[in-house]
Amino acid sequence: MSRPSGHIPVFHSTVLDLLKIQPGNHVLDVTLGLGGHASSFLEANAPDGTLIGLDADTKNLDLAKDRLQIFQERFIGIHANFRELPSCLPDPIDQFDIIFADLGLSSPHIDDASRGFTFRASSSLDMRFDQATGKKASDLLMEESEEELKSIFQNYGEVKNARRLASHIVRERKTASLETSDSFNGLIENIFGYKTPSVLPQIYQALRIAVNDEQGSLAHLLSVLPSLMKPGARAGIISYHSLEDRLVKQAFRMLTTPTKDETTGQVSVPASFSLLTRRPILCDPSEATHNPRARSAVLRGLLRLS
Ligand SMILES: C[S@@+](CC[C@H](N)C(=O)[O-])C[C@H]1O[C@@H](n2cnc3c(N)ncnc32)[C@H](O)[C@@H]1O
Repeated sequence: MSRPSGHIPVFHSTVLDLLKIQPGNHVLDVTLGLGGHASSFLEANAPDGTLIGLDADTKNLDLAKDRLQIFQERFIGIHANFRELPSCLPDPIDQFDIIFADLGLSSPHIDDASRGFTFRASSSLDMRFDQATGKKASDLLMEESEEELKSIFQNYGEVKNARRLASHIVRERKTASLETSDSFNGLIENIFGYKTPSVLPQIYQALRIAVNDEQGSLAHLLSVLPSLMKPGARAGIISYHSLEDRLVKQAFRMLTTPTKDETTGQVSVPASFSLLTRRPILCDPSEATHNPRARSAVLRGLLRLS
């Protein structure tokens, strides 16, 4: 299978082993990215299986469409955020055999400094997956209240001294613009000094999660997931930080826990789902060496029983 250079889908063969895609399967990939996983799914569900792929980012979607055009009408690419499910689907009451999500950002987001995701280059602080809508990271820095900024850095980045950072931003923005990574990194350096290199990733991660409302979108996806799965369907979700994984773990646990009678303790309603992964799948050292982004990846799978 051909891959765009530099792009290795995370957990590539592990995902295929977990999802066990069959010829004819109807697949929904809610984070198409560059179409790496989707391309393998379309090979596995040949000759007549179909795949609908969503991406909030039009640039990635266009790259994926180019790559997947060889599958002709078996592939449909849609520009949508998965928080718009199911209304963004061609048929909103459609159900799938396979549903897959590979959350967060992709390598082009980091490689293209102009997108504002990386603290390693001079850029304007955008960080939106969908550049047609929503507030940029710089808008949050310039407009959000001190309390809101503090909770973004604390909750989404576990940044120590989040309050100090937030109050510094609010003071600084009265006289200076925080539109660029250079100006923001300078402010961070003033507060964190020699600790700056270790907090920069946490601070940028926190802003990115807030800009794209990643937690809200994931909560929505998890709430509609059961109704999008046919009986016998399999779902796999790859997350990259503990906040995401916690949401996935809790949602899967609720779906796979039977209802018990309060007095007898007997199962009154059996669960309609079971776990495909009793324990989360973590990346093995060889994959981490080849693909640094895989280091923090966690894969969980779900099966719809009835
Ligand atoms: C990790 S990449 C997916 C890579 C893909 N599995 C591959 O093999 O190329 C995540 C993709 O999901 C997109 N994305 C992130 N959050 C999204 C959301 N809420 N709705 C739709 N797309 C989203 C990003 O724009 C990015 O292209």
